[in-house]
Formats: sequence, C-alpha cells, structure tokens
Amino acid sequence: MARCLVTRRLPGAALERLASQHEVEVWTDRLPPSPDELRDRIERAEGLLCLLTDRINRELIAAAPRLRVISNYAVGSDNIDLEAAAERDIPVGITPDVLTEATADLAFALMLAAARRIVEADAEVRAGEWLTWEPGRLLGRDVHGATLGIVGLGRIGRAVARRGAGFRMEVLHTGRDDGVGLGDLLERSDFVTVHCPLTPSTTGLIGERELRRMKTTAILVNTARGPIVDTGALALALREGWIAGAGLDVIDPEPLPADHPLLAAPNLTVVPHIGSGTHATRERMAELAVDNLLAGLAGRPLPAPAG
Ligand code: GLV
Ligand code: GLV
Repeated sequence: MARCLVTRRLPGAALERLASQHEVEVWTDRLPPSPDELRDRIERAEGLLCLLTDRINRELIAAAPRLRVISNYAVGSDNIDLEAAAERDIPVGITPDVLTEATADLAFALMLAAARRIVEADAEVRAGEWLTWEPGRLLGRDVHGATLGIVGLGRIGRAVARRGAGFRMEVLHTGRDDGVGLGDLLERSDFVTVHCPLTPSTTGLIGERELRRMKTTAILVNTARGPIVDTGALALALREGWIAGAGLDVIDPEPLPADHPLLAAPNLTVVPHIGSGTHATRERMAELAVDNLLAGLAGRPLPAPAG
C-alpha cells in the first residue's frame, strides 16, 4: 500500500478503485488546497493525483521526497513543472483522448452561441422583451458555410474540424502539412478557434496585432488555455469592434472575478472552464487518472504520459 494524495473528489467510482489498493487522502473542500496546505500534505505522499488548479512547481516537488508519480486530471500539463519531475524520474500522467469530443462539442457550442447570440436572446425573453416576431432583432451570423480557422490541429482541433465539415464550413488550420500561416488564417476566418497547448511560445499568441488582423465580423473561441489570448487586447477588440464577438471557456485570469473589466465588453459569451464537463467524460478522465497513478506506483509505464 502506497500513500496517495488526491486533491479533489472526482465523479464516478475510480477513487474507490484506488482506495481498495492504496491508502488515499482526498482533499474534499470545494476550493483547491493553498500552496501551503498542498506542501504539508504532499510531504509523505508517494502518489499525487492533482487538478489543473494545483500548481505543481519545482519547490513543491522538492517538498515531496517520497513522490513516485504525478497524475494530472487534465489533458494539459502546463500546471506542472515537467522538467523538475523528470530530474527526479517522476513520471507525469495526463488524460488525453477521453475528453477530445466533449471539448470539441463545447468549442462548437460557444461558436454557435456567440454567432446566434443565444445568451443575449435568452436574457431578452426573461426580461419581458419578447414583444413580437421582429425581422431585424437579435440577428447573428451564419455558422454553416463560413470559414473556420483552427489554431493548433491536434486531437481536439481535428475533432472540431470534423464538426466544421458537417456544417459545410471551409476549414483552415495552422501548422505543417496543408496548414496555413497564423496571419493568413486570422485574415480569412469567420471563426477562429484555439486548440494549442499553453507553452512559452503560445503564451500571448493571440494579442493586439493578431486580433486586428481578424475580420471585423469574425468570432474568436478559446477552449484551450486562457493565457494564449491576451485578455486586455481582447477586451479592447470587443469594445472597439475589431472583431464581432468571442466565446471563452478559458480566460486569464481563472477564475475570472465577477467585476473583471472583460465582462463589461459587448458580445462576449463566457463559461467557467467546462470543456470536458460531461458526466461520461469526467468519469472517464477519473478512470484514466487512476490508471496512470496505479501504473506509476507499480513502476510500470503510464498509459497516458505527458509530453
Ligand atoms: C482541461 O482544460 C484539461 O486540460 O483537461
Ligand atoms: C420562421 O419561423 C419562419 O417560418 O421563417
């Protein structure tokens, strides 16, 4: 039996499976452990199952002398210092594939919601402003047949491309093979959707210069990581009409305070990082995160290693 620290309750039965084989401490608060609380608890842990809200930096890894495996309940690993883990030969696991389709669904939901002004229209009904059928009210933009620009054609980007084909969109993407340059993509797309990982080279990838290159009728969607888009530049772009709207599942900062100036910008649809948030997907993520943890504790290769 190894000691495991799990930084939140998870949907489904995966943690029971873990607890039947190892000694498990679960952080049960709604909010994440503070860095100090995490440091206190990780000291004796051999296995760590953590969330994207936990910053697993070099200092924390150094405070965990017995740690043998880190399993992240996310496909991203930008919250973990992979180099510091590698120096200690601590394998890091992630949850790819199981959340691809759910995240692509949400990217499409945000595109449709922003293009057809769903949130704004719902608010009108509740406010008693549905007076009659009006030819010119709440008009949005066509998604079908539009040009879809995918920044980062990985697993999730490809899943979004498949949905775009179903909507008879022209699909552009950045990258090698038949990809186009980012500038070209920004200029030609009616919808720009971000699906690259957060790395030093993608931080601030979509800033003022990039937003100014987009069509004034275009909509930006981000379901990847907040810091890929410059929040200040986006607020300005929405206020000054450089672009027509944005749909965000991820934002810098997260959580976004309710009084954040970005929320005063027009044509913004925002949800709180729920890309993988379906019952089935979050349960599959828990199963895979536990599989990664068990493999690491047994000294076997992880089924889904980071990097
Ligand atoms: C969610 O953002 C994830 O990386 O799984
Ligand atoms: C709209 O409801 C229509 O019939 O065109």
